[in-house]
Amino acid sequence: MQSIADFAEQLARQAGDLVRHERENTTLRTDYKDQTELVTHADLMADKLITDAIRKQYPDHRILSEESSPDSSLASDLDSPLWIIDPIDGTVNYAYGHPQVAISIAYAEGGRVQLGVVHAPFVDETFRAIHGGGAVLNGRAIECNKATVPRDSLFATGFPYTKDYLEPILKRLNTMLIHCRDLRRVGSAALDICWVACGRLDAYYESVKPWDFAAARLIAVEAGARAGHFSEVPEGQPADVWGQDILVSAPGIYDDIRAMLRSASE
Ligand code: IPD
Ligand code: CA
Ligand code: CA
Repeated sequence: MQSIADFAEQLARQAGDLVRHERENTTLRTDYKDQTELVTHADLMADKLITDAIRKQYPDHRILSEESSPDSSLASDLDSPLWIIDPIDGTVNYAYGHPQVAISIAYAEGGRVQLGVVHAPFVDETFRAIHGGGAVLNGRAIECNKATVPRDSLFATGFPYTKDYLEPILKRLNTMLIHCRDLRRVGSAALDICWVACGRLDAYYESVKPWDFAAARLIAVEAGARAGHFSEVPEGQPADVWGQDILVSAPGIYDDIRAMLRSASE
């Protein structure tokens, strides 16, 4: 697993160099997916760089990738190894010149994520974990916070691109704002979760896609955080890659926050 992780980290760094170079030296070409979701030429280039390299190195492995193969049902087929890739997590940040941008690469076998790399090229931070082996940030071990009460907890969440289903999201946000210390909207789900892993945040919840969180979730769990869902995971779906209503937090506040989010969802 170590050599697959080295390969994944090397790819994340190469893709990071590419996206940084494209933002600093070219005019970003932007487009919209599904009429609302921003995508830049760098998202497509980074996706191609990563997926071409995986296909060359591991021709038998499957790839679930946001830009070139975004079929989430791939994640419920447990038969052969699966790579889960977000070439740029935080595309809106990227387009606006913000630093919170990450390349996220996860590798799963049998529906369990075995390794995750989240690389933030504008601040040169690389989070990495192998199942059972702890989590590191730039090679140094990281641990999540020891928060015990929601009132002292800093949380992050995100909001969907479409504005059609905001009501339940605002209801949960209202509850969290009342009962927690404060909110940060980082703009990259992968970094939100890695920031829980290294103690910059106490909790994160949202509904996202497998490529947004698969790598970061393992990193957080390996750093001592608790990860799960505040609604039921459908039978037969691997929880590691089920993105609906995910919650990742310091273990001491997990049950209280989960209960709050559940009651705000009723
Ligand atoms: C988005 C980011 C954002 C989250 C969105 C994601 P993208 O990913 O992770 O924080 O709120 O749900 O879609 O589009 O920048 O790859
Ligand atoms: Ca994403
Ligand atoms: Ca993306």
